[in-house]
Amino acid sequence: MNFHPLKIHSVDRLTPKAVSIQFEIPEHLSAAFDFLPGQYVTLNYTTKTGETLRRSYSISNLPKEGVLQIGVKELEKGAVFSAIANRELKAGDIIEVSEPEGRFVFDAADGSNVVAFAAGSGVTPILSIARSVLESHRNSRILLVLGNTDAASIMYSSSLKELQRTYDDRFVLKHAFSRSNEGDYFGRIDKSIINHSLKAEGGVSSFDLAYLCGPEPLIHECKAVLSATGMAEKSIHFELFTASEAKQEVATEGEVEIKVILDDKTYNVRGNADEFVLDLLLEEGIDAPYSCQGGTCSSCICKIQEGAAEMERNQVLTDKEIANGFVLSCQAKATTPTLTIDYDNV
Ligand code: FES
Repeated sequence: MNFHPLKIHSVDRLTPKAVSIQFEIPEHLSAAFDFLPGQYVTLNYTTKTGETLRRSYSISNLPKEGVLQIGVKELEKGAVFSAIANRELKAGDIIEVSEPEGRFVFDAADGSNVVAFAAGSGVTPILSIARSVLESHRNSRILLVLGNTDAASIMYSSSLKELQRTYDDRFVLKHAFSRSNEGDYFGRIDKSIINHSLKAEGGVSSFDLAYLCGPEPLIHECKAVLSATGMAEKSIHFELFTASEAKQEVATEGEVEIKVILDDKTYNVRGNADEFVLDLLLEEGIDAPYSCQGGTCSSCICKIQEGAAEMERNQVLTDKEIANGFVLSCQAKATTPTLTIDYDNV
């Protein structure tokens, strides 16, 4: 994973609990920070107490604007970095930022009519995707159903309004508020809201692609409705913002010898098979790529060349990819005494 120190150009408040951070991209890094709409970056931040935090954030602006913009919502339950971002970060600060990555991307070649369902900070990549969809073709259109507690908690509210003004005939935005009846829908985005919003815009057959971004129940509900009403699985893209509580325990025993191919170098690691492969590598000081460490972001994907490993959580890889030997190393435990993994050919 390649990190580069980037200077913060500005920090703008979006809501009482969220900020937008804009990084300057120096000319010599413009190729490294080229991205596709929907991708994310990982920030590597060392706190005053010396703790290193890695967090992934989706990019909310458009490619080739010379800047990189992310939205950070302050989370509860001891989420240290989001609190620092909301309370302390300021213009001029330097932060290590990874080159953009992620497979939740919009490609205009796949279609120009898009439906998107997002909740809370899930709007961040969708904003980039929405602008790209609308600029991709003069007849392209997007329906966005956005869930929040109320109007005050909408991230990028003014950018969304601006988009509505610019593309009033091609951008349909519907708000679902869970604690206010001032939106188009009341309550969390559920089956009835999904069905109603689709029907009002001509049904699922009017859309080529779907983008879903938010917590797991939202993704599951939307996927179920879209599939049941005829959208092909390959046309439904999703990005989870929280790790699933559900996990499948992997029973392992003894020691494992791991051969690691990373950045054209080979490393050998020995450790307890009951530890996650990524943890074993990091303990040995190997700079393996990672971000969420929860099976949601895909930063840590590698390919098994020899041996076997199983994952406890996986919200990224398809069955086909797993069958082809891909694993999330942050969730994988070796189930054979030797294991060879390759981070370079993924
Ligand atoms: S580090 Fe995010 S899926 Fe492994």
